[in-house]
Amino acid sequence: MDIIKLMWGVGIIPVIVIDREEQAVPLAKALVEGGLPVLEVTFRTEAAAGAITAIRREVPEATVGAGTILTIEQLTAARRAGAVFGVAPGFDPIVVNEARVRQLPFCPGVSTASELSQALTAGCRFVKFFPAEAAGGVKMIKNLLGAFRFTGVRFMPTGGVSAANVADYLSLPEVACCGGTWVVPKAALAAGDYEEIRRLAAEAVAIVRRCR
Ligand code: 3PG
Repeated sequence: MDIIKLMWGVGIIPVIVIDREEQAVPLAKALVEGGLPVLEVTFRTEAAAGAITAIRREVPEATVGAGTILTIEQLTAARRAGAVFGVAPGFDPIVVNEARVRQLPFCPGVSTASELSQALTAGCRFVKFFPAEAAGGVKMIKNLLGAFRFTGVRFMPTGGVSAANVADYLSLPEVACCGGTWVVPKAALAAGDYEEIRRLAAEAVAIVRRCR
């Protein structure tokens, strides 16, 4: 699987924090219907692995990966659940290497030139720029590109990205996609307001179309 191509194709990856497994299928359906079929289910809750398995089983149109992979144990659980890619907020060479051994496409997080340099040395050309807004936003990515453009690096800015600023990031050709929780608001998910989530996904897709 070419992860950069996959991410570029959608432009926005919903970052999902799921509390109850039974929310997974209606949520994934709403996001797919809204036009966002590539999902990152974060391993921040107990329900993560079960949610990934349920989406794989019942929403075949979705491509589901695992986020917030900080440990080998989480990597193992994500793989077992059926995640087809992994994402981390930071760069841990041990986790990155283990993902390679298990042939799980992996996107580590970076926010400095040193971390980016290490990620590239470890063979990761696709990185999460996290926390995007707090780490300097579009300006920081442009500065990093001044030194790193020739490497072919591609970014997934995440953290503080929203409908209000996502177009600024997507206007950079080196930004393959942006990630964010804004398309799955905590309150809407808790209330089972999947119509609102579908609307936010469709709104996000319209922004991507205007940028590309
Ligand atoms: C992540 O882990 O990707 C971030 O917590 C998402 O940040 P956001 O809530 O600002 O989108």
